[in-house]
Amino acid sequence: MPAARITLFPGSVVGRIDPRVYGSFVEHLGRCVYDGIHEPGHPTADAEGFRQDVLDLVRELGVTTIRYPGGNFVSGYRWEDGVGPKADRPVRLDLAWHSTETNQVGLHEFADWNRKAGTEPMLAINLGTRGVLDALDLAEYANRRSGTALADARIANGDVEPLGVRMWCLGNEMDGPWQLGHRSADDYGKLASQTAKALKQLDPGLELVVCGSSSAFMPTFGEWERTVLEHTYDDVEFISCHAYYEEYDGDTASFLGSAVNMDRFIETVAATADHVKALKRSDKTVFISFDEWNVWYLTRYEQQERITDPEVWPIAPRLLEDVYSVLDAVVFGSLMISLLKHADRVKAASLAQLVNVIAPIMTEPGGPAWRQTTFFPFALTSRLARGQVLRSEVTADLLPTARHGDVPLVDAVVTRDDDGSLTVVVVHRGLDEPTALQVDLGGDWTVAESHLLADPDPSAANTLQQPDRVGTRPVGAEVRDGALHLELPPVAWAIVHLVPASA
Ligand code: AHR
Repeated sequence: MPAARITLFPGSVVGRIDPRVYGSFVEHLGRCVYDGIHEPGHPTADAEGFRQDVLDLVRELGVTTIRYPGGNFVSGYRWEDGVGPKADRPVRLDLAWHSTETNQVGLHEFADWNRKAGTEPMLAINLGTRGVLDALDLAEYANRRSGTALADARIANGDVEPLGVRMWCLGNEMDGPWQLGHRSADDYGKLASQTAKALKQLDPGLELVVCGSSSAFMPTFGEWERTVLEHTYDDVEFISCHAYYEEYDGDTASFLGSAVNMDRFIETVAATADHVKALKRSDKTVFISFDEWNVWYLTRYEQQERITDPEVWPIAPRLLEDVYSVLDAVVFGSLMISLLKHADRVKAASLAQLVNVIAPIMTEPGGPAWRQTTFFPFALTSRLARGQVLRSEVTADLLPTARHGDVPLVDAVVTRDDDGSLTVVVVHRGLDEPTALQVDLGGDWTVAESHLLADPDPSAANTLQQPDRVGTRPVGAEVRDGALHLELPPVAWAIVHLVPASA
């Protein structure tokens, strides 16, 4: 049986985990909002139409921040459409997703839902078809206490207290030709800089995210980041990264190695940001908001025919409703390891998306809500991997892949919570045989809990018919002579939480 070893350096801290790395994303897309979080008439719906069964799962998932309202949707969005009496709200076309938007959920409903979910809102501004003034209006409407037309309008519309939105995205994927208002790095950089400066005039405490590339495979990747940051470096706290991974043509090995690409992506963007830092002679570090990441079978979506006639664009159609397998969830778990390994630089992230749309939570109108396979690695990592990331080194055999070269069979991250407990999160990419893993921790530890995600059938999934087909089970980990030992089956993700033996 192959063996892998992880050596821990407990005195060496990579970085503190910002809880906002466990964020997610709700876009007006498909059934994420309508028939997802919001379904008046559903047996569990509250007075505002929010599904309680979904809220329960969102809390269990352990998400911290929610990016809203897009995504591609935001580049055609007028936020004013979603405030005020519902009967007066206009019905609009959504050009991004060829849908009809009823605006029955808007800013106030979203804020209300966040309060119920215990999450923090993070708003994206439309810099595709709008500009500085609209951004200022929205920020003033949301955050100013009272005494101006906009703040008083918010109060009249039901929110007496300011919404207190801290994080703001300066547009969405402005490098993508599919984006409404797509522009060059230079043009976007200037607009983002003007908008950022204006927002900081309103409130210097806001945290701003400038758009990086929509993927590391974009032809402008690298140069886009440099140009945009040269315009905005002094005015923003974050640059965004977006990445989606899928299995191409049955190439499972490459798919399992996806996190290696994510590692390189993060490190390249950090290096580019530091290059601009040097050019600017700046003391400030710009962090990464990885505000869209997931497994997404995008090629399947692109092969589907789109409804072209806007006369018949549907309301909340079933779009991007990927059903995730065990294999998908193992890759997903490895992407979370990649985010955590870069805790010094990735200080925010948003799993795209939350409900129904490439989501860990699925719903049926009038029916149940259930956990996809990807729910488990997210919920467990969010609950157990808190505090600091410690430096660790993995020694493992290599898996040859067509897309990423040789990748380690095992990847891992080790975290230490403020109470002194340790968490080991590990992925096993081996396709055929188990691997014996030893983690040299030093000291005396007791396994408090452990969870394994693996299945003899890696294509197994949870569905409406079989919502509990896939779950996790204990790993069977034990500590001997200061080392954690466990056997990882093929295509597996595991998490082990340890407390000092004397505790
Ligand atoms: O998450 C789905 C879409 O992916 C988002 O709307 C867009 O930003 C990205 O291309």
